[in-house]
Amino acid sequence: MAAAIGIIGGSGLYEIEGFEKAEERVVETPFGEPSDALVGGMLAGRQVWFLPRHGRGHRILPHEINHRANLWALRSLDVRFLICVTAVGSLREQYAPRDVVLPDQYFDRTSRREHHTFFGDGIAGHVSFGDPVSAGMRGLLHEAAKAEGARVHDGGTYVNMDGPAFSTRAESEANRQLGFDVIGMTNLPEAKLAREAEIASATLAMITDYDCWKVEEAAVTAEAVIGHLTANVALAKRILARAIPAVPEQPEWPEHKALDGAIMTPRSYWPEV
Ligand code: ADE
Repeated sequence: MAAAIGIIGGSGLYEIEGFEKAEERVVETPFGEPSDALVGGMLAGRQVWFLPRHGRGHRILPHEINHRANLWALRSLDVRFLICVTAVGSLREQYAPRDVVLPDQYFDRTSRREHHTFFGDGIAGHVSFGDPVSAGMRGLLHEAAKAEGARVHDGGTYVNMDGPAFSTRAESEANRQLGFDVIGMTNLPEAKLAREAEIASATLAMITDYDCWKVEEAAVTAEAVIGHLTANVALAKRILARAIPAVPEQPEWPEHKALDGAIMTPRSYWPEV
């Protein structure tokens, strides 16, 4: 049977239409509740599960998202390929609002690290994360975005801040000087947990603002983020619809073997579950 495909929706993207045999699943996980019930069904002949990371009605702040429950729930539904749709601020002149970015690196400026791993409590594991984005998934998204006529940037570094307030101008300038390209509040933990869950994942980022470094532009507001993203949701959905049929059926990429050699605790020490 073909593996399922997951889509995590961000600000402005709270549902996906067009499912055949649509169903809703409330999934319980050892880490608590996911952001919402998962909505699934067949799209282009593939089983797809959708989860809005902020919950329907946008009720959950970035630092309140239970990423472990979200990724656990997706993996429990046999998701092995994942697209994380997200709004980002641009730290570069040439990355303009409403452009699409497919980051190939993340930089971690978050503080809830214990929430960003499935390991711990008696099992120590360290997955390789030098290439945090699935090259296969990113390639599919790039082809799909180009075919849909998007202005797309293939690659870039996504710096993940905590939020919920946006950056100060000093932070924004520092992020630019460090060479980061876009900024967001959610995608690094999703990528880390996806890797630990042996899910091939990539971020489909839509630029909504120039953060606050560009003094001739108004500093980012939540309203501007939602405005640009809502305008771009139709494009994001077209990119997803084009990418889904191109996703392989079997999980045979390097990310699907991420745990090979990653667990340090010998099996004889594993706690009973
Ligand atoms: N999401 C969208 N725009 C953002 C910004 N400027 N900073 C952090 N997260 C964002």
